[in-house]
Amino acid sequence: MKILAIDTSCDDTSVAVSENLSIKSNVFWSKIKEYAKWQGVMPLEAKRQHEEFLPAATEECFNTAKLSCSDVDAVAVTQGPGLAIALEAGISCAKNISQKYKIPLIAVNHMAGHIYSCLARDENNKPFSGIEDFEFPLIALTVSGGHTDLYLMTDHLKFSHIGETIDDAVGESFDKVGRMLGMEYPAGPKIELSAKLGDKMRYKFPRPLMDQDNFNFSFSGLKTAVLYQILSILGKYKSKPGKKAFKVDDLSQNLSTDTINDLAASFQQAAIDCLVERSEKAVKKYKPKMFIVGGGVIANSALREQVENMAERNRIPLYYPKPLWLCTDNAAMIAAVAYFYAQKRDFVKSPQAIDRIPNLAI
Ligand code: KG4
Ligand code: ZN
Repeated sequence: MKILAIDTSCDDTSVAVSENLSIKSNVFWSKIKEYAKWQGVMPLEAKRQHEEFLPAATEECFNTAKLSCSDVDAVAVTQGPGLAIALEAGISCAKNISQKYKIPLIAVNHMAGHIYSCLARDENNKPFSGIEDFEFPLIALTVSGGHTDLYLMTDHLKFSHIGETIDDAVGESFDKVGRMLGMEYPAGPKIELSAKLGDKMRYKFPRPLMDQDNFNFSFSGLKTAVLYQILSILGKYKSKPGKKAFKVDDLSQNLSTDTINDLAASFQQAAIDCLVERSEKAVKKYKPKMFIVGGGVIANSALREQVENMAERNRIPLYYPKPLWLCTDNAAMIAAVAYFYAQKRDFVKSPQAIDRIPNLAI
């Protein structure tokens, strides 16, 4: 089964070609430098980028795989969640290919993609992340720029949602705190580097919802606590009630590098503690056979190390996507999910009628 997969959920245009779970080629085209300038993704610009890049990215992907459109058995595309007009660009391209080459269309949930990224294999069919297949029941934690969720999976493509963030996603909190510390979007990797040089014990930040009897997360209060800490260091905390006496982008100018590193390390540790504590609680309750983590934030080496410690303590096999490009958005993970739909011959019934679902849940 050869599949062409497309992901345009956010700011990367990504196209992959797979044979079963083996990824023959995966390409990314991105204007990441421009998003850094704007401190975030501009939806209209992302849509324009996808429309401009998709034809060339698809051609490059087929050239690398030494295949062509007429060789593939199905085309898979991210239907959601993501930015509505960005998703539209990928869906429209996939519909055209499905119609032109008379091949079935597979609609994929982007977050399922982050979980299934662990099952992708290299061009020689060797599992990238060291795992042959999932064993059920398993627990999956997704940590991305828009989502922080815990799922219990009882079979392939069967998910029950057991926990979610009630406000910001963890990646979003890395990006927002990074901005306060003078780092460009996406700030997650920059916080990680800065945290390596800092003292994680220097500032005491909150670990929200730790004492609650559920598996939900909250990162908005943590972000605000970092802001108040910065304002207090700068002596701006008490100035002019009712008036915003600061600009977020200017705050870091008067912070020393050591202070920035300590703030980054203390924030990162608080965020990791929340993720690990909730994961461990879920493992103890559901006693799964495996623990899977997917999404951009698992590129963070401190999070990896501390989730590994949690898995070791509970004697449970842990898998997350390796190498790093499989953690952040990519089309290879969409191809991996699509393979399981294709096995069940679960194709979209009317390809021309499918539409994007920006808040699609698993
Ligand atoms: O999964 P992803 O590529 O896109 C979404 O589906 O959102 O995740 C992007 C998020 C961004 O918030 C980015 O700052 C964060 O993942 N991220 C990291 C690291 N690398 C990417 N966060 C912390 N540490 C990292 N090394
Ligand atoms: Zn993603």
